[in-house]
Formats: sequence, structure tokens, C-alpha cells
Amino acid sequence: MLLLFVLYAIVLSAVFARRGLWSSASAAAPIAVRSQPITRVLIIGATGGTGRQLVAQALERGYEVTAFARTPTRLELTHPKLKIAQGDVLDAKAVANAVRGQDAVLSALGHRRFFYPNQIQSKGTANVLEAMAANNISRFVCETALGLGNSAGRLGLPGTFFMLPVILPFYFWDKARQEQVVAASNLDWVIVRPGILTSGARRGSYRHGLEVGSYFWPMSISRADVADFMLKQLDDDTYLRMAPGVG
Ligand SMILES: NC(=O)c1ccc[n+]([C@@H]2O[C@H](COP(=O)([O-])OP(=O)(O)OC[C@H]3O[C@@H](n4cnc5c(N)ncnc54)[C@H](OP(=O)(O)O)[C@@H]3O)[C@@H](O)[C@H]2O)c1
Repeated sequence: MLLLFVLYAIVLSAVFARRGLWSSASAAAPIAVRSQPITRVLIIGATGGTGRQLVAQALERGYEVTAFARTPTRLELTHPKLKIAQGDVLDAKAVANAVRGQDAVLSALGHRRFFYPNQIQSKGTANVLEAMAANNISRFVCETALGLGNSAGRLGLPGTFFMLPVILPFYFWDKARQEQVVAASNLDWVIVRPGILTSGARRGSYRHGLEVGSYFWPMSISRADVADFMLKQLDDDTYLRMAPGVG
């Protein structure tokens, strides 16, 4: 029984290695030339753990922020430079309205419907990308997770042999599809793959790169530091069209 389970977990990681994005520095597209600086950003998943950090830190950095939220009251924040766009990411019209007039989009979309198949992350992201293309908005920073594509297996042993096979197979199936949807776009995207998320403080010091994550030990990072890294991707082309891990 145990052997079968171990085999299932290994096969599952191999499947996510294949289905997720294979990211390498050599495959990076030529650096895009931006005509104007990014000042207005839309944040998808703004009421979530990373999303709230993105909103707060983007405001701190002086951006004009639009928070896309199903339930705006959950944001519990007001600021002269903060607008709210109410909507569901699966509603293409609501997404298109929110995307219009932005310079860039950051996504920290996630959900807790772990135990049945759904396409919330991939379909929602496809709606965002479609609206961005229609409005000539090119910069998209998208949070996914370690464990996909060339980071498969880098969740540490507990992630690879418990979290992924027992709790997250459907969730990661759609996350892999989400990465493929992003990679298939012609936008200037950066996929950010964090390790285990914590609610710790922002330290501003963390590992990032294509080799982040361990096959043995779980690697964690605070949502605050993930937000810090994601915001840096707005005007840094180091990881353009790549999927760096952070931890
Ligand atoms: N937890 C971890 O250890 C871990 C590790 C690596 C990567 N990640 C990934 O990192 C990302 C962020 O995680 P998190 O824990 O910071 O996020 P989270 O707290 O789960 O927040 C997810 C956000 O997505 C929003 N959302 C869900 N469905 C939506 C829909 N249909 N329309 C519009 N918004 C919707 C939620 O809105 P509501 O407030 O309305 O629900 C919420 O704002 C996720 O993709 C997650 O899978 C997590």
C-alpha cells in the first residue's frame, strides 16, 4: 500500500513537471522596451493574504492601485490612491472593466476548493490576459507555486509526499494549466513561484531564482516578501518570461 502511494506521489510530481512551465534563462524573450513608466496597477486576489500585502506595498511605493475583489469590504483599507473594482475573475466583463486604463496587472489569485476539479485559476487568468491584450497592457506578474514545471519536486519531502498527492492534486492541475495560459500569451509576464506562504513580516531578504526550493526540506516565505518580490518585477526585466521560485 505504502509503496503504491509513494509511486503515485512520484508519478504525480512527474505529471506536474510535464504540465507546468519549463522556465530557463536562455528561453527568455528579448527585453521589451516600455514607452512609459508603470503608475497604475490592478491587483487580482486583492483580499487574500498576498493580495492585501500587494495592495499595501503598492500604495507605499506610490502606485495608483485598483483592487479587484469579490467582496470589497474584506479589504478593510482606504487610501486616496486606492480604487476598488468589484467582481468575480470568472466574469470576463467585470475583469475587462477593471483592466481598462491600467499599466500593469499583478495576480495573487487562489482559492480553497481543493477537493474537486475546477478551472478558477486558469479560466480567471485567461480572462485577465484577454483583457490585457485587448487594452495593450503588457506587464503581468502572476503568483503560482513551487512544484510545477522545472520546480517539480522542490516542495520538500512533506510537500511532494503529502500536500501534493493528498490535498492539492486538483488545485495543482489547474495551476499548471494557469502557467501554460500565461506562457502562451504574448505579454511581458513573470510567474512567481513561492514556497510555503507564512503571515510573517516583510524582511526584504529572500532567495529567488530558477533553482530555488529543495527536494528534501520545505522552504517558506512570508506573503509580505512575495509581494515585495512581485512588485519589483513591475520594472525589473531580469525574470521576464521566466518562472523564478522565491523562498
Ligand atoms: N498557501 C501556501 O502555502 C502557498 C504556497 C505557494 C503558493 N501559493 C499560492 O499563492 C497564491 C496566493 O495565496 P494566498 O494564500 O496569499 O491567497 P488567498 O488568501 O487564498 O487569497 C486568494 C484570493 O483570490 C481571490 N479569489 C478567489 N476566487 C476568486 C474569484 N472567482 N474571483 C475573484 N477573486 C477570487 C480571493 O478572494 P475572496 O477573498 O473573495 O475569497 C482572495 O482574494 C495562491 O495562488 C496560492 O495557491 C500558496
